[in-house]
Amino acid sequence: MPPQISRLVLLTLGIVGSYAVARKLLVPATFGQYGWYRGAALGENAAREPVFSGMKSCDECHSDVLLNLGKYEHKTVSCESCHGPSRAHADDPDVKTPKGKFADGDCLRCHQSSPSRPLWIKQVDPLEHYRSDRCTGCHVPHQPKETP
Ligand code: HEC
Ligand code: HEC
Ligand code: HEC
Ligand code: HEC
Repeated sequence: MPPQISRLVLLTLGIVGSYAVARKLLVPATFGQYGWYRGAALGENAAREPVFSGMKSCDECHSDVLLNLGKYEHKTVSCESCHGPSRAHADDPDVKTPKGKFADGDCLRCHQSSPSRPLWIKQVDPLEHYRSDRCTGCHVPHQPKETP
């Protein structure tokens, strides 16, 4: 056999061998247990504590707010999409909800005009839309077409 061939064979064996060793060392143990992912990820995710509580849980103590919100334009928006994940507060009202002060950016997160937003969401350009006050100065958050 010409020496070039045996060198090529050795080189190929080297490359394939180091790939096999690296694969053995780097692929997590439970990868492929159920499919093309790490089997243990299922258990790890299921074990995480939920941080959202869901709108129904607010009903127990804030049914007035729920009833009111349901009559106005924000009826499809969940409490926690504005007030933040509030499971800790719902379990123990002494714990504050995560959002302290509301900033204009919190409204603009949904209402800033953007071509990527569906047209049914009313959008404003913050540089043109009444710059004289904060959003909540003119819009009551739970009934946004009303003025405080
Ligand atoms: C077990 C009763 C209870 C439940 C359940 C509850 N709350 Fe409250 N919440 C309270 C009480 C009591 C206060 C008033 C506390 C105060 O005035 O300091 C309050 C105050 C608030 C406030 C204003 C003060 C703050 O913490 O920012 C917000 C906002 C709020 N709740 C949102 C929610 C949301 C959203 C939910 C559902 C995920 C919820 N609450 C579930 C009892 C509850
Ligand atoms: C569009 C965003 C938004 C949604 C949706 C929303 N809130 Fe609020 N909420 C606010 C803002 C902003 C304030 C602060 C008002 C202020 O400072 O004048 C507030 C104030 C409150 C307060 C304090 C006292 C009061 O009644 O004004 C409570 C309690 C509260 N929200 C509970 C809820 C609950 C329960 C829900 C779901 C049914 C909900 N909110 C949905 C934005 C929202
Ligand atoms: C999580 C997304 C979300 C946030 C945050 C939010 N909104 Fe809305 N808002 C909506 C949706 C959805 C509607 C109903 C569809 C529509 O009319 O655009 C709505 C409706 C409105 C309307 C009524 C528009 C009309 O003429 O019918 C106003 C005004 C408004 N929001 C102002 C605010 C203000 C002010 C804030 C901040 C306190 C805020 N929104 C925060 C999603 C949001
Ligand atoms: C000085 C008062 C004032 C301030 C501040 C203000 N708005 Fe408005 N907003 C209005 C009035 C009045 C209307 C209804 C008439 C119009 O569209 O001009 C309106 C309409 C809207 C609408 C519905 C637009 C549509 O296409 O029907 C949205 C959404 C809105 N505002 C969001 C916001 C947000 C978000 C902020 C904060 C960045 C804000 N507004 C600040 C007075 C105000």
